[in-house]
Amino acid sequence: MTPYSTRRAKLLDQMRAQGGGVAVIPTAPEAQRNNDADYPYRHDSYFYYLSGFTEPEAVLVLIANGQGNQAILFCREKNLEREIWDGYRYGPEAARETFGFDAAHAIEALDTELPKLMANAPALFYALGASEKFDAQMRQWLAAVRMQARAGVVAPASAHDVRRLLDEMRLIKDADEIAIMQRAADISAEAHARAMRMTKPGMREYQIEAELLHEFRRNGSQFPAYTSIVAAGPNACVLHYRAGDAVMNDGDLVLIDAGCELDGYASDITRTYPANGVFSGPQKALYEIVLASQEAAIAATGPGRRFTDGHDAAVRVLAQGMLDTGLLNRDRVGTLDDVIANGDYRQFYMHRTGHWLGMDVHDVGQYRDEDADGIEQPWRVLQPGMVLTVEPGIYVRPAEGVPEQYWNIGIRIEDDAVITPDGCDIITRNAPKRIADIEALMRS
Ligand code: GLY
Ligand code: MN
Ligand code: MN
Repeated sequence: MTPYSTRRAKLLDQMRAQGGGVAVIPTAPEAQRNNDADYPYRHDSYFYYLSGFTEPEAVLVLIANGQGNQAILFCREKNLEREIWDGYRYGPEAARETFGFDAAHAIEALDTELPKLMANAPALFYALGASEKFDAQMRQWLAAVRMQARAGVVAPASAHDVRRLLDEMRLIKDADEIAIMQRAADISAEAHARAMRMTKPGMREYQIEAELLHEFRRNGSQFPAYTSIVAAGPNACVLHYRAGDAVMNDGDLVLIDAGCELDGYASDITRTYPANGVFSGPQKALYEIVLASQEAAIAATGPGRRFTDGHDAAVRVLAQGMLDTGLLNRDRVGTLDDVIANGDYRQFYMHRTGHWLGMDVHDVGQYRDEDADGIEQPWRVLQPGMVLTVEPGIYVRPAEGVPEQYWNIGIRIEDDAVITPDGCDIITRNAPKRIADIEALMRS
């Protein structure tokens, strides 16, 4: 058994519990960047989760019926001419053997084989409405099944969104996944430490982005998990800023939100540090508030706690800090409870404190309990094996009534937490975040 075959068996069990049927799971299409240059290819996360197969032009078919379970791969044929240009392809036979499928066929056979496999299946399982192209293909395959009606063939009568089952599976990471995520986190933590060591006032944001990419790639990461943010000074207050060409000035803070993808799994770390290696008084004051809020959020993150407990804990500490520093004026906003009830803290903290993390940086999985009767359900209870980020921040745009010493300071601290039986494990802990540790590293 591989982790992939274990997952296939688990999905097939759940399909069987719903009466059985056929699941059809395609990998991602290749995407053209311009003229004849493509974007680097990235497989589909669901497909990879069940197959371990990273070539484009492939479809996985899983069948749960009266004869048992079957996993069938459709993939590119071997093609020596194409392999000279683009590199190795498994071909169906080697793919079947290597990845442990019951059968494998050329992708060209999909249109003739799939209608046969779908014949008399009670239900289909696929990503409903996820792709126009795939929906159109599905219509054609179903039409081909219905063409066999006079031969006594019955077409599937219902369709289930296979993502409902797969999202729940992906939400709880198995030991293989957590091991990869720990390696991805270690590489990203090392990259953040490198960025701190390399930063000198006068350098530009893209030069530090290059240091991050260098560290990712030299450790085997295939891609950044998302576009890196390297934001100097006021740019840190733009939440979706990307590394640009701004100069990191003496006296600026630098906010870096960057994580690598390793073997299909994301990491997601944010650190904020002074370009010159020493926090100023106002920077230190706000930084300590964000750090304390993150510690409070982490303490509220563990099995049995709800997804939002960390956010609520962070907001309490942030709001108190905003009152203590005068970012929020007590005479105007009232008490801590008023600030929380009225949402005044949102002027400086306008995002949530975390999200699921996995193969996708904003990973799949419901954030609330299953919806029953359209009633809004409570936030999800955390369980061991879930992985989420903890990422509070403070972003101060110049505004009337806001003490000027804090203007244009943007701070976020983001770590990745694996829920364990007795709390959570911060897998990104190697990236320095205490002021003394950051200043010591930048001095060295
Ligand atoms: N880097 C994306 C996020 O923090 O959500
Ligand atoms: Mn994040
Ligand atoms: Mn992030």
